[in-house]
Amino acid sequence: MRLTDCHDHHDFRRLARRRLPGPIFDYIDGGADDETTLRRNTAAFEACDLVPSVLRGAQDVDLSVTVMGQKVAVPFYCSPTALQRLFHHRGEHAVAAAAARHGTLFGVSSLGTVSLEELRRRHSSPQVYQFYFHKDRGLNRAMMQRAKEAGVEVMMLTVDSITGGNRERDKRTGFSIPFRLTLAGMAQFAIKPMWGLNYVTHERFRLPQLDEHIDMGGGTMSIGRYFTEMLDPSMNWDDVAQMVQAWGGPFCLKGVMSAADAQRAADIGCRGVILSNHGGRQLDGSRSAFDQLAEVVDAAGDRLDVMMDGGVQRGTHVLKALSLGAKAVGLGRYYLFPLAAAGQPGVDRALDLMRDEVVRGMKLMGCTSIDQLTRANLRFR
Ligand code: LAC
Repeated sequence: MRLTDCHDHHDFRRLARRRLPGPIFDYIDGGADDETTLRRNTAAFEACDLVPSVLRGAQDVDLSVTVMGQKVAVPFYCSPTALQRLFHHRGEHAVAAAAARHGTLFGVSSLGTVSLEELRRRHSSPQVYQFYFHKDRGLNRAMMQRAKEAGVEVMMLTVDSITGGNRERDKRTGFSIPFRLTLAGMAQFAIKPMWGLNYVTHERFRLPQLDEHIDMGGGTMSIGRYFTEMLDPSMNWDDVAQMVQAWGGPFCLKGVMSAADAQRAADIGCRGVILSNHGGRQLDGSRSAFDQLAEVVDAAGDRLDVMMDGGVQRGTHVLKALSLGAKAVGLGRYYLFPLAAAGQPGVDRALDLMRDEVVRGMKLMGCTSIDQLTRANLRFR
């Protein structure tokens, strides 16, 4: 199986599974508890049908949108995700370059493996810096200052991770950073020698957004432990209001789910909220972002940009979310499997396919610009 054999998300996932050591594949692929929310995220789109309009002349389609003050060429973006050089040795560079090629936003994770300064220098995509609220307030201030100096356009605070989700696949394999694998996990690495060769022959694995500030290297730090030990579960609206003030530019919250919280975000000056359940990786049983979208757009969509992520695998998923009022849609696993499968050419191909699917869908819906997509185009079963 080669990259040119990949025609959709499932093909990329299959190819990534062949290339990656099992524990890494499962870290990307898995969710929390019973993975109910993970499955529900994609299934939610199927409870909603598109109702096309015909004979409207839909030759040239304009996919551009403005989101959080950034004009982008397509209504989807690469959500921030952690540890990308673990999946492919080019990591964040590959994703940022592909996002720039498609004229869209790239989210730099605070658990990223390339520094935000370097990404800013080398890639022209507008950048969103995702960060977590740490117990150490000085660290939070330092991270914001660094992002400001680096020229980051939008700040994005993740609010759904004040403690680690229960990722049972990772417990079984022993996935953690740095690696401390179970025997079964180790055997999985041994059968993927190409991955190992790439890993050891490229730049040493680091978390440059954090390792200047905290010692991640000494002990073994699992993602769950990082959330639980480093992040501040007492974070509240007043803390965030202060951060919004201190930042002074576009600021958004990722992981809001309720209409009341979206209104509150608008009250404290946020420019956007991302409805998200963290790809089903945190609170299992949480509602899908797509199912919550209409309610939140109605409550706060006139005061801030509402975006969503979770389970998006098709251009028609994007069309459905935009029709409900989302300003843009975030992709996560959708580009991570292509990254793992083939580096930048993989991500480029996946984003090309997504753009083609959205264009084709727009034409078949009889729409030439994103603002023509409305709830009149949808029916729920
Ligand atoms: C995760 C965090 C790191 O979902 O975003 O693994």
